[in-house]
Amino acid sequence: MNPSNLLEEAFLAQKKAQSKYSNFSVGCAILTDDNKIIHGCNIESAAYPSTMCAERVAIYSAISQGITNFKSIAVVSPLGAKPCGPCRQIIHEYLGDIPIYICQDKSKDFETHYIKDLLPYPFG
Ligand code: THU
Repeated sequence: MNPSNLLEEAFLAQKKAQSKYSNFSVGCAILTDDNKIIHGCNIESAAYPSTMCAERVAIYSAISQGITNFKSIAVVSPLGAKPCGPCRQIIHEYLGDIPIYICQDKSKDFETHYIKDLLPYPFG
């Protein structure tokens, strides 16, 4: 699967975001080693700190399904935002050195990053 197709999956995931407090919808799609797609979207709560990011929703969902090997991850948001600190930590621990494709909503352009650049000197 090429990056554009995985970003298209992340865009589908973004549509499921529950983001009424921030109005900032994020979608994530992870390609597993056996070519499954796992979606994640941000899920916000009236108790704000209970909110969970799209990336961690996808990663935790995959792991809870017994999936632990991944090929790539795509993240779509209104600003083409890079993953937050806690998501970087979890990507480092559970996804490792795979391409992270990042795109601003439906833009055709995307960036490719690796966790070693986004999270140098990681804990653990
Ligand atoms: N958010 C994500 O889903 N992923 C990130 O890496 C950063 C932030 C969400 C959390 C919250 O619902 C909204 O974006 C605004 O911070």
